[in-house]
Amino acid sequence: MRAEVLLALLPALGAHGIRIIQSNDDGWAEQYVRSFHNALIASGHDTVLSAPAENKSGTSSLDAEPAPRDSPCQYDSCPAGSGPIGRDETSPRLNWVNSFPVTSMRYGIDTTGPQFWNGEAPELAVSGPNVGSNLYLAVRFSGTVGSAVYAAKDAKIPALAFSGASDGTLSYASPEEQRSKVYAELATTLTNAVIASGKPYLPEDVFLNVNFPKAEGQCTEASQFKWVLSRINVGLFSSPDTEQCGGTRLPTETSVVDTDGCYISVSVGDANDKTTASAEKQAVVLKKLESLLTCLP
Ligand SMILES: *[C@@H]1O[C@H](CO)[C@@H](O)[C@H](O)[C@H]1NC(C)=O
Repeated sequence: MRAEVLLALLPALGAHGIRIIQSNDDGWAEQYVRSFHNALIASGHDTVLSAPAENKSGTSSLDAEPAPRDSPCQYDSCPAGSGPIGRDETSPRLNWVNSFPVTSMRYGIDTTGPQFWNGEAPELAVSGPNVGSNLYLAVRFSGTVGSAVYAAKDAKIPALAFSGASDGTLSYASPEEQRSKVYAELATTLTNAVIASGKPYLPEDVFLNVNFPKAEGQCTEASQFKWVLSRINVGLFSSPDTEQCGGTRLPTETSVVDTDGCYISVSVGDANDKTTASAEKQAVVLKKLESLLTCLP
């Protein structure tokens, strides 16, 4: 079904679709971001993608005005000489920016998204799923995290960053792989849980850093995965975390995804410094997501 038709049906279905801006750092033509885009649209959301024209992994919070492209976009997804920004003319919600993830998110929030939303701003920003994990020390270098942090801190749009441990590049044009489908379904589940929790979706200056373990072996269907509240950095000398699972020190996200049994880490990130947010802000998120979250064995 076409997105426009689906969106028109929404009121009849009683569903609550919202305006979502989407980016990533692996490039707009990467399969993970396209699967997630399609899943958000199928879930009734008014979603617009604005992502780099090619792989800009590891570019953290860099931001620079897009320059005209000489070469074709990633996977030949735009011809050579296509200018500084562009879109898929048959699916105009799919947009590329010839610059960094942060720049793509900024264009999406300020310019591209509002063209679809009667000039209004997005209600939520999502980034990824990244091809590969963004855990602990990798968080500060990640463009996936960088673009979510830009949205949360600079644009004041609540933001979710998703990453999947199963890597290996995949084009949007090749047949959809199960790992891409599963990560898209999981990312949509969390997105919908955040939306269902009501506004404000997240405390101010907070982003969620979500890492999926490998989608293989026992973990190939979305229903096999479990969600665990985690922290980004090791909390050796940090003040206590919010109380969860009988303690006041949350597990690190690395320990969550390394635990046997398809555990997803959900960290409440501080958009000011990309570390773990305060216990007070964690508590707000915990309350919102309580019905989804479990404890490690
Ligand atoms: C992007 O480049 C990084 C290295 O810079 C690599 O690890 C990653 O797999 C690449 N992603 C894609 C989708 O090509």
